[in-house]
Amino acid sequence: MSHMGFFASVNGVVTDAAEARVSVLDNGFTFGDAVYETLRTYGRRPFHLDRHLARLRRSAGRLRIAVPVPDDEMGRRLDALLERSQHAESYIRIIVTRGVGDISYNFDRVQGPTVVMVTKPFQPFPEAYYRDGIAVILSSVQRNHPRALDPGIKSCNLLNSVLAVQEAQDKGALEPIMLNADGDVAEGASSNVFLVKSGTLLTPTLDAGILPGVTRELLLERARALGVPVRETTVRVPELLEADEAFITSSLKELAPIRTIDGRPVGDGRPGPLTLRLLADFREYAPRHST
Ligand SMILES: Cc1ncc(COP(=O)(O)O)c(C=O)c1O
Repeated sequence: MSHMGFFASVNGVVTDAAEARVSVLDNGFTFGDAVYETLRTYGRRPFHLDRHLARLRRSAGRLRIAVPVPDDEMGRRLDALLERSQHAESYIRIIVTRGVGDISYNFDRVQGPTVVMVTKPFQPFPEAYYRDGIAVILSSVQRNHPRALDPGIKSCNLLNSVLAVQEAQDKGALEPIMLNADGDVAEGASSNVFLVKSGTLLTPTLDAGILPGVTRELLLERARALGVPVRETTVRVPELLEADEAFITSSLKELAPIRTIDGRPVGDGRPGPLTLRLLADFREYAPRHST
C-alpha cells in the first residue's frame, strides 16, 4: 500500500509520513496510552479545530496526560503540515501519547507527551451512500462500560470498535451500532446515532456511555436553530428499528442515512426528508466554519 500523500508532524517536525518516527518505547505503542482526534478540512481549512482540541484536552485530562502545547501552537503545527500536504481536502488525525516510557506503569518516568499529526487526502464517503443510505447492524459487541473504559474518552484503545467493525464487515454492513450494558442504543463504532420519529429528532444522551461527537453537538445546535423538535433521551432498540428515519454522524461521514438495520429497511428504505434537510444544512454550514 502506498502512503503517497501522507504527511506527519511529530512534535512539530513535518516530514513525509514514511519518514516520521515514534519510539518503540512510546506509551502509545506499548500501552495504547494515548488520545486522538479525527477531523477534516473544508476549503483546505480544518473544521472546528477549536472543538476538537477542547475534546482532546478533556480526553487527555481524564488519563492525566499533560498537554503543555497551547491551542495556538497546535494550530500553527497543523497549518505547517497542511501547507506541506497540499491536498484538495485533507483527512487530519491528531494523536497525543503520554510519551516515551520504560514499558512499565511508572508514569513519572515517561518523557512526553508525543504530539503527532497526520494528514492524508480526504476521501469522501461515496455519494451513493448519501443518496441510497447505508447498511448497519446491531452489533453483538457491547460498547465499553463507562466504569471499565469510558467511551467519552477518545482513546487510542480502539479494540472495542475493531471487534464490532469486523463483525459488521463480515455481514456486509458499513457500521455496527453498539448497545450499552442496559441493552439500549449507544453509538456506532465511529459515529453517533440519530433517529426521527413523528418529526422529532432523537439521539441517545451522553450518559448512555458514548463519545460526545462534535458532529452530534453541531447537529443538535443546527436542528434547534431550524426549529426542529429535538430530544436527547434513552433510545431503546425497538424505537430505532421502528424509526421513520435514522442516520449516523461523524466528522468524516457528516450525516449518513441508514437504509437497513440487520437487513430490515428503516422507514420506507430511503433517506428521509428531515435527514436530507439536515444534511443539506450541514453542508452549507461546514465550509463557513472551517478556519
Ligand atoms: C466512538 C465514536 N463515536 C462518535 C464519533 C463521532 O464523533 P465526531 O462527530 O466528533 O467525529 C466518533 C468519531 O470518529 C467515534 O469514534
